[in-house]
Amino acid sequence: MKLFGKVTAMAMASMMMFSLAACGGDSAPAQDAAATSGTSEAAPEEAAPAEKEEAAAPEEAAPEETEEAAPEEAAAGGGNIGVCIYKFDDAFMTTYRNALQEILEGKGYTVTFMDGKNDQAEQNNQINNFIAQGVDALIINPVMTSAADQIIATVKDAGVPTVLINREPTADQMSAYDKLVYVGCDARQSGTMQGELILDTENKGDINGDGKISYIMIQGDPENVDAQYRTEYSVKALTDAGMEVEELDLQRGDWDRNRGQEIAQNALAKFGEDIEVVFCNNDDMAIGALQAIQAAGRTVNEDIYLVGVDALDAALNEVANGNMTGTVLNDANGQAAGAVEAMEALLGGKTYAAGEQSIYVDYVKVTPDNVADFQ
Ligand code: GAL
Repeated sequence: MKLFGKVTAMAMASMMMFSLAACGGDSAPAQDAAATSGTSEAAPEEAAPAEKEEAAAPEEAAPEETEEAAPEEAAAGGGNIGVCIYKFDDAFMTTYRNALQEILEGKGYTVTFMDGKNDQAEQNNQINNFIAQGVDALIINPVMTSAADQIIATVKDAGVPTVLINREPTADQMSAYDKLVYVGCDARQSGTMQGELILDTENKGDINGDGKISYIMIQGDPENVDAQYRTEYSVKALTDAGMEVEELDLQRGDWDRNRGQEIAQNALAKFGEDIEVVFCNNDDMAIGALQAIQAAGRTVNEDIYLVGVDALDAALNEVANGNMTGTVLNDANGQAAGAVEAMEALLGGKTYAAGEQSIYVDYVKVTPDNVADFQ
C-alpha cells in the first residue's frame, strides 16, 4: 500500500491548511459498557529523535512551537497512547486508523487501538480502561456525537489530554476542558464540493433537460454532522447556483457499502430514468450504488451522475475509469498527522482556549482531471 507516500506527501500539504474555528453538533449522555481487547505495539527503538527535540523542548529546539511546553516524560520518551475508533469495520476510518498507527509508531509511541464496535457503551468502557491503565493521552473517534458531554467529563476528570477526531462536538461542549482538541474537517465544505461536481458537468446535472435536477440522497449515519451537512450543503450548492432541484428519495445508509447498493437498487427500480444524480455521503456507499447503477444498465456520466466523499482507493479508480463523476478527498493522512501534532502539543503542556479547539483540514475536489494526483 502506498500509505506511507500519502502520509508524507498529502499530510504535509494539508498540515499547512489547518485553520482554527468552531462548529456545530449536539449533546446528550450515554451509558457504560463491556471491554474488548485491542492491539498494542511499541516501536521504542527508533523513537524519532526529531520529535523528541520538538516535544521535550531542550532550550534551543523550535522556539515558537515549544514556548508553552512543560516538558513531560510522555512527550520525551514516546508514551502510551490509547486510541478509540467508533468501529473498525468502516472503510474510511480504517484508512485513518492505519495512518494514525504509522505516524504514532513511527514516532516511538506505544499505541493501543480499540474497536468501539459502533456501541457507545462499549467505547465508554474502553475509555475508562485506558484511564485506569494510566495512558498519557487519548485519541477518540466517538461512537455517538451525542455522547460528547460524557466523554469530555470523563477525560477531564482523569486529567488526560485528549484529541477527538472525525465526529465533531460543539465548541461549547469542548470548552469544558482545555486539554481537549478536535481535529477533523468542516463537513459543509465537502457537501458544497459535491454540489459543485454536479454543477461542473456539461448539463449541470439536468440530464433530461426538464429544468430541474432530480436526485436521490444516500445518507450516512444522520446522528453525525458529516451526514447532516453533506446532505444539506450538496443540495444547497445547486440551489445557490439557481438550479431547481427535486429530491426523489433520501435514505440512511450508515456509511455502508451494502446499504448503498440496496438503497440505490430500490430507488432505481422505483424511479428509473427520473434519477439524474446519486449523491452519496461517502465513497463506500457510492461504490455500492455504482454496482446497482451498473446492474440497472445505467451509465455514469452519460445518463446518471454519481458522487461520493472520502477518496477511498476504490473510488479514485472509479473516478479515473469514468464510473464515478467525482469524489471529495477526506484527508485521513492529513487529519491523522494533525491529530498527532495536537496530541503532542497537549503532552507538551499546551492548553486550548474556548472557541479555538477545532482544527480543520481542508477537503479537496477530485475529478478525472486531477485524480492521478491522489492515486
Ligand atoms: C466520515 C466519512 C465516512 C465515515 C464517517 C464515520 O467523515 O466520510 O466514510 O467514515 O466519517 O464517522
